[in-house]
Amino acid sequence: MSKHILLLNGPNLNRLGKREPHIYGHTTLAEVEAMCRAKAEARGYTIECHQSNSEAQIIDWIHEGIESEVCGIIINPAAFTHTSVAILDALNQVHAPIIELHISNPHKREPFRHHSFVTHAATALICGLGVVGYPVAVDALIDFLAAKA
Ligand code: DQA
Repeated sequence: MSKHILLLNGPNLNRLGKREPHIYGHTTLAEVEAMCRAKAEARGYTIECHQSNSEAQIIDWIHEGIESEVCGIIINPAAFTHTSVAILDALNQVHAPIIELHISNPHKREPFRHHSFVTHAATALICGLGVVGYPVAVDALIDFLAAKA
């Protein structure tokens, strides 16, 4: 198995740091990705980080991750969490562990955020920790892989 992790962020997360900071904080996506890269590399893993506002692009990256046999996927599907059977179908083809991540706790928010299609394919769910959830997810994924090895 590879030691290559895929981190995917969905729509509007390119505006992290500026977008509704009372919910999502002031840290930018570039800073989040740098935290994850540092965490992964310190533990002997590499991480590939992508963000898109397009559902099709996210699906294509999941397909590429399957083909290149990534060891795990961390995904914040953002609003696609609540709408996308297509992303669920893509994730259902992944054999590696999948961590679904949300910066906020969607269950404390509007009722339309309470349902996640992605959860049906996820190994684990991290939500409500703010952007700290990202490096926590990297550590958790690596610990999970080590425990299975
Ligand atoms: C989010 C929660 C979603 O409901 C929302 O649409 C997002 C971000 C989060 O990280 O808290 O865009 O996934």
